[in-house]
Amino acid sequence: MGFDAADLQKKLAHRPAQVIDSVASTQDLALAWLADGAPDGAVVIADEQRAGRGRHGRTWYTPPGVALAVSVVLKPERRALPQVTMIGALAIVDVLDALGAQTVGIKWPNDVLLDSRKVSGVLPEADWQGDRLRGVALGIGINVRVQFDDPDLAGRAISIEPALGKPIDRSELLVKLLDRLDAWHHRLGEDAVFAAWRSRLVTIGTRVQVGQVVGEAVDVTADGGLVIAAANGARKTVFAGELHAGDGGA
Ligand code: BTN
Repeated sequence: MGFDAADLQKKLAHRPAQVIDSVASTQDLALAWLADGAPDGAVVIADEQRAGRGRHGRTWYTPPGVALAVSVVLKPERRALPQVTMIGALAIVDVLDALGAQTVGIKWPNDVLLDSRKVSGVLPEADWQGDRLRGVALGIGINVRVQFDDPDLAGRAISIEPALGKPIDRSELLVKLLDRLDAWHHRLGEDAVFAAWRSRLVTIGTRVQVGQVVGEAVDVTADGGLVIAAANGARKTVFAGELHAGDGGA
């Protein structure tokens, strides 16, 4: 069943929100709203996305009734941009921790893992007006009770409800997520944001490959880069790209 828009708006109190049954991508609506003057904290929520976007041009699967797809409009200062992604992942981690999940971590840069499988993804899309940052649409997708039939996907993706073995109300999940996002948002620019993100990363200490760079992930930088040490000890910091396990693993 879709969201009850009136009930959800009541739960969101005064936060400006668009609640939609079906949309290509909540990101499109959030970016259009941003261009049209959306305030900081405005949200777009959809029951279903027909063309949900993931990082690196991938699609993000959001069938009706089983996932949370939300885009949050944020208006950070330009220098806080790297932390915007961090606070998205941290808010999700906090919510999962509070639900009693035991094995929650962040795979660099911002995949949230539950039991080593991806439960949630974060997609920040910035809107520039020349040199001026108009804002960011911070897209968050959470698998609540999505069934992954494809065996390859089933090995890499997970949903909260079956993993925790208890029913999850998507509206309540959204309210908790936005509460935690607000809390982190207030701390944007503080070292504590970076420290918290770093402390939840499961990538440090593992063998990785990002693009052509292969080695051991040894650290992250405050602006979100991943420091990779090659076998000869040379270190490189990568800022974007898809992370693969360096030894041919998952
Ligand atoms: C990723 O891990 O690749 C990022 C996935 C982000 C998915 C969310 S769902 C809500 C918002 N709308 C989209 O089209 N994408 C993001």
